[in-house]
Amino acid sequence: MAQELMTYFNGKLVPDSEVRIHYSDSGLSFGHTVTDSARTFDHRPFKLREHINRFFHTMRVVRIDPGMSPETMEYITLEVLEANKPLLAPDQDVWLSQTATGGRLLRSIGKWEFGAPTMIINSTPLDFTAYAHLYNTGVHAVSPSTRHIPPQSLDPKIKHRDRLFMSLAEFEVKEVDPEGFSILLDIYGNLSENKGANFFLVKDGVLRTPTTRNALAGISRATVLELGAKLGIATAEEDLQPYHVITAEEAFFCSTSYCILPATKFNGYVIGDGKPGPVVKRLQQAWSEMVGVDIVAQAQRRAATLALSHA
Ligand SMILES: Cc1ncc(COP(=O)(O)O)c(C=O)c1O
Repeated sequence: MAQELMTYFNGKLVPDSEVRIHYSDSGLSFGHTVTDSARTFDHRPFKLREHINRFFHTMRVVRIDPGMSPETMEYITLEVLEANKPLLAPDQDVWLSQTATGGRLLRSIGKWEFGAPTMIINSTPLDFTAYAHLYNTGVHAVSPSTRHIPPQSLDPKIKHRDRLFMSLAEFEVKEVDPEGFSILLDIYGNLSENKGANFFLVKDGVLRTPTTRNALAGISRATVLELGAKLGIATAEEDLQPYHVITAEEAFFCSTSYCILPATKFNGYVIGDGKPGPVVKRLQQAWSEMVGVDIVAQAQRRAATLALSHA
């Protein structure tokens, strides 16, 4: 049985510790690096094709040619998952991630020359410990002074790893509240997104989220909009300001890993009655039914198991 996670690296499946990136890689030297990540539920990939299609769109915009088709990338991703399944506990699920960089920078002054793109496909276990308890209490959403990069400079539909501005924002948020989650504003003061999640609020009974003009077209975001429509909840994609969060009935973050995580505070203001609300709970339940896994129970069970094993 494999003892170490296996990862696809530039054409080969290798032990994860053998993945090595050269310092002249354009991902490191220019932040020319893009990514996508799906996850599994009960070891079954969720919307993998949608993630891979988004990744191919991203790569096209940033001029990286992966040298393979989406079908091949999906096949390799499933191979990586299969290789790592023996290492997984029955109720443990994984990320399924693809990362590409523009390759090694061979010449940067005058003519620009790059080597072959660097390509990594990996599956790593989801770590629920940091947020499992937040399904009960809700998250403190904090808007840092660092603003989202304007779409005129970097379109947020590009899912990149050039995240220095988001990291600076996150440092600021963690100073305010070590468990806070960032909700970045754009340069006009509209809500945009978290470093790894989209944001929703419920106001006047309508499920509202920023547009994809200033936030990633998240696959969880699309899933929430689909589930909202199925549950007969009105939805809107629009410009929103901090005012709307402060006066909202409910708010939440959504992302591939945790799916839907309620936000019960915003910049110190209590949102609604300060508890995860009925719309969040209906959406979490609908999500759990769709994937055949109780998303909250799984995270809390796994976090408890890990806490026991570290005791
Ligand atoms: C900046 C950003 N926004 C939103 C998301 C959520 O996207 P998804 O639901 O596709 O995971 C991510 C995911 O990593 C992200 O990086």
